[in-house]
Amino acid sequence: LPKQQFWENNYLYKWKGFWLFPNMIKSVLDIQSHFKACSDDIILASFPKTGTTWLKALCVSILECQSKGDDDNGGDQKDDLSKKNPHSCVLTFESEVYGRDDSINPEDILSGMPSPRLLHTHLPYTHLPDSMKKSNCKIVYITRNPKDTLVSFWHFAAKLSAGSNRGPYPFEKAYNEFCKGGYPLGPHSDHVLEYWYEKSKRPENILFLKYEELKKDPKEQVKKLASFIGRPLKEIEVEEVLWKSSLDRLKDLEVNKHGAVLTSNIPNNSFFRKGVVGDWKNHFTEEMKKNLDEITRTKLEGSGFDFDV
Ligand code: A3P
Repeated sequence: LPKQQFWENNYLYKWKGFWLFPNMIKSVLDIQSHFKACSDDIILASFPKTGTTWLKALCVSILECQSKGDDDNGGDQKDDLSKKNPHSCVLTFESEVYGRDDSINPEDILSGMPSPRLLHTHLPYTHLPDSMKKSNCKIVYITRNPKDTLVSFWHFAAKLSAGSNRGPYPFEKAYNEFCKGGYPLGPHSDHVLEYWYEKSKRPENILFLKYEELKKDPKEQVKKLASFIGRPLKEIEVEEVLWKSSLDRLKDLEVNKHGAVLTSNIPNNSFFRKGVVGDWKNHFTEEMKKNLDEITRTKLEGSGFDFDV
């Protein structure tokens, strides 16, 4: 497979059009041979740094509304998000279910999950297992404009490197790699387009969300999401779900200030930063903006999809 260095000692391999870390390739093979989708599975999918944490939190709260309604016994009123980081509530299946370096059997994790199973993946559509593609399960894809996605990833990487002996990760280097597509799970636009085209074929199974639209019109977007996953919400519940999943609330919860996501050792607090649209303006030169916009425009041409910023 074509290989390229990514930030010091990490290597990415291009497989079926996408740049993956070696452990992801192993997971994809494992998942393809062993994973059995259930028709009521809810799969959240995203390119890294496009709103994964928010989407996980929203879905956890939406499903919780429903179960609270069914079984309001006045017991422990603390919601799941106040007890666990969103990434520990909804596991990323190529790293937290499969691809673990402990001896826990993925099938044991999956069979212990309540129905409907809520899972997440960063994998491109191409690499999803056939079992999932052929099942009737629901896929919710969230995307975000490439400039903010890159800036978010760069801050995230800088935070992770702070405690390691890796050197700083210059923004310009990150920018050049991103533009060339040689980025973990990249190219970003291809990741988006695969799910976009699949959504056009199977709109009843795939929902497409944009981070920017969620920021602009959260109530409408959350209603749409809840109905899509089969849990339509009352007006008052929409407010509750939005508050419970809000960045301001989550970043101040004790559970997110300390600790790390189980197998990957990523600090819980590294998933919460500014959460705004347009932070790229603080990092991009005019030339950088023009160049990436042009790359994106060329990729998306004729697809019927566009980013708002
Ligand atoms: P910024 O770095 O631009 O602030 P992911 O969850 O896919 O890793 O993406 C992380 C980005 O989503 C970060 O963006 C983070 O601040 C933002 N984010 C995390 N939780 C959020 C929430 N509950 N609401 C809105 N944005 C959130």
